[in-house]
Amino acid sequence: MRAVDVILKKRSGQELGREELAFLVSGYVSGELPEYQVSAWLMAVCFRGMTARETADLTELMLRSGDVMNLAGIAGPFVDKHSTGGVGDKVSLVLAPMVAACGLRVPMMSGRALGHTGGTLDKLESIPGYRTDLDEAAFRAGLEAEGFAMTGQTARIVPADKKLYALRDVTGTVESVPLITASILSKKVAEGAEALVFDVKCGPGAFMKTREEARALADSLVRTGKAMGKRIVGVITDMTEPLGLKSGNFLEVEESLDCLEGRGPADLMELTYRLGAWMLVAGGVAEGVAEGEAACRAAIGSGAALRLFMANVRRQGGDAEKMLKLRGSYRSKHSFELRASRAGWLAGIEAYKIGVAGVYLGVGRDKTTDPVYPDVGFVFDKKVGDPVAAGERICAVYGKDGPSLAAARPLVEASLSYADSRPERRPIVLEEISAL
Ligand code: URA
Repeated sequence: MRAVDVILKKRSGQELGREELAFLVSGYVSGELPEYQVSAWLMAVCFRGMTARETADLTELMLRSGDVMNLAGIAGPFVDKHSTGGVGDKVSLVLAPMVAACGLRVPMMSGRALGHTGGTLDKLESIPGYRTDLDEAAFRAGLEAEGFAMTGQTARIVPADKKLYALRDVTGTVESVPLITASILSKKVAEGAEALVFDVKCGPGAFMKTREEARALADSLVRTGKAMGKRIVGVITDMTEPLGLKSGNFLEVEESLDCLEGRGPADLMELTYRLGAWMLVAGGVAEGVAEGEAACRAAIGSGAALRLFMANVRRQGGDAEKMLKLRGSYRSKHSFELRASRAGWLAGIEAYKIGVAGVYLGVGRDKTTDPVYPDVGFVFDKKVGDPVAAGERICAVYGKDGPSLAAARPLVEASLSYADSRPERRPIVLEEISAL
């Protein structure tokens, strides 16, 4: 088989066979195929797409490129949630202990900040001492004791995605529904979950900007996951303004603690309860979403979710006492406040601009080798739809140094818009696709 023939076949819009996809995936992982040929094929996929059969084959071939987590001997049900990426999205930190308190096991393998979107691993690592490089034994121990564990992808889990993702990142081939589907699903199946809930973010602050794009990705994740024998739910959710009131790394840990104590912002809690409810339904421990939501609210109300989170922090090496001590004060000394330029109603906080400004501040990375900072980000006093007086504080902004603040300021200013009358609040959950 010649790589150039396979590239030409995809370039002309034809469906590739499983052997042809296997040739590309294994050839790239082993180093036999050069990056320029794999890049050409990826670009052809971006323009020509893949059939459902090709997407399922690619997902399975990527999954088989490495090991699968061995969860044998631990009682399930194993259910996980995955978000396609947003700004201020700290849902995982609250959701995992919440649904674990309701009887699920959550084998959570998370990622780092990507582009303008935040990463669960970076947030967790802002807790002093917290480790996200668990080996299988430590992962299993957390799952057995607290019902959940949160770790990063190891070198042996889906190595094909590690290589392909890095290549896609620098060749303009990230935004492709079949490639995203195979990338996400191969990792999620490898971590051992039996059922999965996908939070497909939609809007200017997400990778999928329109409802049509988000629906196409949700449909693809649901269809491909089902074909791999998993119970799947896709929830399309709004990513127009940042979720909650805090965006950053430790700042989001702080807000997660607020949520676990029952004092979380309304939009964040609504989404967390809905996704949690679907996880309980997918795991077979709730009959329907209403019952699931009631169980999730009880897990927060009783303090059970908070206790599990604190136990997880200690188990994964975090200094829980220091975390609580730093709460409310772990802020970079480089900061500015942004005040309302006029009276009226806050009509918009553009999540994409806040996400990009966050990268300047040190919340995320420009290059994969850049460090991220725990004590930077945004604290909002207002949400979209709130009334504001001229000069009233909208947010405080913390950066790694002076130049980062200077770079972020125009973006933060441009992210805000005002109206003369109260704008309608956007629903957070837009659409739900269940294949249970
Ligand atoms: N997240 C992933 O893990 N893979 C993608 O391709 C996009 C988002």
